Amino acid sequence: MLKIKDKEFKRYLSEETLHNRVKELGKQIAEDYKGKSPVVLGVLNGAFMFLSDLMKEIEEPLQVSFVKIASYSGTSSTGRVKEVVGLAESLKGRHVLIVEDIVDTGLSMAHLMGMVKAQEPMSVSVASLLVKPEALQETITVAYTGFEIPDKFVVGYGLDYDGFGRNLKEIYQLK
Ligand code: IMP
Ligand code: MG
Repeated sequence: MLKIKDKEFKRYLSEETLHNRVKELGKQIAEDYKGKSPVVLGVLNGAFMFLSDLMKEIEEPLQVSFVKIASYSGTSSTGRVKEVVGLAESLKGRHVLIVEDIVDTGLSMAHLMGMVKAQEPMSVSVASLLVKPEALQETITVAYTGFEIPDKFVVGYGLDYDGFGRNLKEIYQLK
């Protein structure tokens, strides 16, 4: 049991479970992107921990860049993408791998996809640690999914509740 502000959470995905899956994804991505020198585009803030662990499992030349978007307030999506910072580098002609913590409604990802595609990259794929298929409102293809989870709010391993919980080693689910 874990309490963050007014809410109670229970342990959901252990450190070992996360680590093993991240390793598998890294191996798969390394194979798929062999010789392609991709740009890995991390979505801040939530993806920082997943991205950091994932990168260490990809033993291929790549570049890392970040964008920042926000659509959440408390435990529910506002349905609007509030803020976008970044995308300074040109992605034209590059293989882009977007790395997210979670695809929930898919609105943020759809928005980001549009921005990335406008730069005419050679390819764009998505790696997301978590996907909530029941919450999806957009058609998003996630090429590399860590775990499909039910439509319940989660924190930890980069994911937050009102800014807290990002530093947790494990993922917790709202009780
Ligand atoms: P979407 O636009 O609804 O897909 O929401 C995407 C963003 O909302 C994610 O990148 C997360 O930062 C945040 N988010 C969605 N679901 C959760 C959750 O269960 N816990 C914490 N953050 C979440
Ligand atoms: Mg996010």
